[in-house]
Amino acid sequence: MDKLIVKGGVRLKGRVNISGSKNSALPILAATLLTPETCVIRNVPDLSDIRFMLEILSRLGAKVTFEDGVVTTRAEKVDSETPYDLVRKMRASICVLGPIIARCGRAKISEPGGCVIGDRPIDIHLKGLAALGAESRMEGGDVYVTSKELVGKEIFLGGKFGSTVLGTDNVMMAATRARGLTIIESAACEPEVRDLAEFLRKMGAKIVGQGTRRMEIEGVDHLHGAEHSIIPDRIEAGTFMVGALITQGDVVLTGIEPEHLVNLIDRLKSCGAHINPEASGLRITTPHELSSVDFVTETYPGFPTDMQAQMCALMSVTPGISAITEKIFPHRFMHLSELRRMGASVELEGATAIIHGVEHLSGAPVMASDLRASAALVLAGLVAQGTTEVNRVYHIDRGYEHIDQKLSALGAQIERIR
Ligand code: EPZ
Repeated sequence: MDKLIVKGGVRLKGRVNISGSKNSALPILAATLLTPETCVIRNVPDLSDIRFMLEILSRLGAKVTFEDGVVTTRAEKVDSETPYDLVRKMRASICVLGPIIARCGRAKISEPGGCVIGDRPIDIHLKGLAALGAESRMEGGDVYVTSKELVGKEIFLGGKFGSTVLGTDNVMMAATRARGLTIIESAACEPEVRDLAEFLRKMGAKIVGQGTRRMEIEGVDHLHGAEHSIIPDRIEAGTFMVGALITQGDVVLTGIEPEHLVNLIDRLKSCGAHINPEASGLRITTPHELSSVDFVTETYPGFPTDMQAQMCALMSVTPGISAITEKIFPHRFMHLSELRRMGASVELEGATAIIHGVEHLSGAPVMASDLRASAALVLAGLVAQGTTEVNRVYHIDRGYEHIDQKLSALGAQIERIR
């Protein structure tokens, strides 16, 4: 199992190019199952989650190639049974459910279960699909879905935590092939949902309202192959922005979409960060000491839950007290115990972390638990005194393309031990 050895004390300096978005690529790759024709997807990041999804597509019958960030897929036929061994390893694979039902009229998929950031239910996915006429039943940890015909409906997809990203994706993809009009109320507005809708429109789907809480999808008889380039990864961008700030460095991010980062930029500016447009990117500097801010994670366009752990790392070395409330995945605080091992002063009250900024963190061996928590531990290691050893780095490789190489290019002292 790989680990990363990080020596603290270096200010990040230079330019870093942001890769394509994992959370946009995964549902878009699933959407290629909706047509028997060839699809070409560009700017796909080379991540283990992406390779999992490509393995699932090929096990379902698609012909898949992946080279230099470009995926070509051709699913001339699609098997309705998803490979259990792969699906149970990656919850996001649930987003093949909508396309398989639309294509095959039935599906069998293992229930995603939970993960370290909390329970990952799919009740809203199944409620939305049932509204379209796809009935589901659970048996032995598997979900069996059947539908004689998909018929458009008005569907409310909100849950107690707000909208659901992959739930919106699944219902939207199924609705592209339903008879008549589907209206989704309380749809997720994330840029990745919008990107999926743009790809489906290129395939011939009739969708309006993507990126808003209300989407309308007019079913069509056939979807054809299409080409598409994935949007930049706003969470990778945010992670490197925090890297620049936590090391009081000076970093230019290129290949990003600033409009996807409005909330994050606002919150970082309120800490005292200088974030300014520069030659096709954003330049992040910290002219003086930062100050603590409070924030709450919310569905887009609110502060992203996928940036919560990284902000905990930043606030743990920022003077003042910060209250960080997690409203999307209330248990998503595995990183706090590891940050404490590095000297952070933080206590958890319900779903709120109260962080008292300390003078410095100290390097220590720490355990990565989930994708974003691992990134937070690397960020903490960049500023801690001494050496930090981040174990179970496969978590990071799921969602960050060559993070050690990108950080080294910015001057970080970071080494991957195989
Ligand atoms: C997507 O997961 C992302 N993953 C997650 O990123 C991200 O944290 C999450 O959206 C929230 O933004 C991908 O896009 C591949 P949800 P998703 O359904 O769609 C509850 C990362 O680090 N819920 O929007 O699975 C759920 O429990 C990953 O890249 C139900 O109750 O998340 C959660 O509390 C981690 N019933 C909330 O809604 C359902 O049927 C939001 O979950 C579905 C969800």
